[in-house]
Amino acid sequence: MNEYDSDCLGQQLMNYGLAATDNHENADLIIINTCTVRAKAQQKAFSLIGRMMSIKKRKPDVILGVMGCIAQQEGSDLLKKFPDIDLVLGTREIGSTPQLLDRITKGKEKIVATDLSIKPIPRERHDGYFRNSIKSYISIMEGCNNFCSYCIVPYVRGREVSRSSKEIMEEAKSLVSQGIKEITLLGQNVNSYSFTEREDVDFPMLLRMLSGLDGLNRIRFTTSHPKDLSDDLISCFKELSVLCPHIHLPFQSGSDRILRMMNRGYSREQYIELIAKLRDIRPDFAITSDVMVGFPGESDKDFQMTIDLIKKIEFDNLFSFKYSDRKGTFSENMDKKVDEHEKSSRLSILQSIQKEITLKRNIKHIGKEEEVLVEGESKKGGQLTGRNETNKIVNFYSDIKLTGSLVRVYIKHAFINSLQGTLIKGH
Ligand code: 5AD
Ligand code: SF4
Repeated sequence: MNEYDSDCLGQQLMNYGLAATDNHENADLIIINTCTVRAKAQQKAFSLIGRMMSIKKRKPDVILGVMGCIAQQEGSDLLKKFPDIDLVLGTREIGSTPQLLDRITKGKEKIVATDLSIKPIPRERHDGYFRNSIKSYISIMEGCNNFCSYCIVPYVRGREVSRSSKEIMEEAKSLVSQGIKEITLLGQNVNSYSFTEREDVDFPMLLRMLSGLDGLNRIRFTTSHPKDLSDDLISCFKELSVLCPHIHLPFQSGSDRILRMMNRGYSREQYIELIAKLRDIRPDFAITSDVMVGFPGESDKDFQMTIDLIKKIEFDNLFSFKYSDRKGTFSENMDKKVDEHEKSSRLSILQSIQKEITLKRNIKHIGKEEEVLVEGESKKGGQLTGRNETNKIVNFYSDIKLTGSLVRVYIKHAFINSLQGTLIKGH
């Protein structure tokens, strides 16, 4: 979501007449996009703001802004913490950046723009911005109404607002005309996408509309909430060949007691049933998820239930986190907080179990011929790299440049973070 927001801002600033630099020492304008979903993300952002302030001290004419969820959360308090900041830009105000910059340069004033009650201000596009890219994002909705008890998102991204399907289709067409082959639809909870102003469009309908776009090879989406994953959406995976067989479906905990305290709205059994439905479509359907350890009151027994679920499901990959208190959330005031050492120890047990499962799932690809969307040269060089339909990295050797093409690769080796194979020529 933040990458998408940064790209939107980049496009607006190019339309405004600015050019990008890849060295912040040369910049006249620096805007830091921030995340506050976990304590660690917030610490990283604060230290980056501190470093950028030192540039401003040397070059006082530089305009320094902070955008994203920390800007939304802290508002004018951020100016007290970091007095050199010129602009605090909330999550719904990105679209008004050019006007705000005019005010800052003309009036020499500092601006805090963090109204969350407004509909997100439409963002401009800059045709050609994505010319050298193969894949891109489109945000289809902003905000979240779920109020999971640990989560700060509803407070910093506001209530759910869906964009019109017309706007989304136009953005998708523009991306495809710039050479984009794969689009990931973004929302805090894409399943509750619903646009009802001039027409009734829900998420499965939106997927069907996008799947008809000429030149678009792949569609993905993130994030889905297990409580809202409908049979209609599951059937889209069977029906639409451009919809990749991968879902990111956060489960957070394997203990029903903790799930209730988290206000997640589903049980462990219901989650298992959903996965069975998805794997019924095809056994190699990739499932990734988010999980947290050390939620207030999480006992060793609760943690064992999480481990048990991880072993039962065999996720392709997991993003795992230590619970951290977020300001203003329900769980901040819950008692029986879990000790930091205990959280770290649970996290490392969980991660080492998942590592083995990830490798086991990757090994299952060996001996298969898979479709790969080529993204360019691999990091280590010498090979080309891309992703298969299940979103796994695949590296292979080729003498010809294939960036942007869909090719077939015979998978020979599997590692924790990637697969390796040989190109099948003649496709
Ligand atoms: N502490 C730890 N992890 C959190 N997440 C969200 N809020 C918190 C928190 N307070 C995790 C969840 C979510 C992911 C984006 O971040 O697992 O799915
Ligand atoms: Fe946060 Fe996701 Fe729950 Fe919304 S659904 S409150 S974004 S964890």
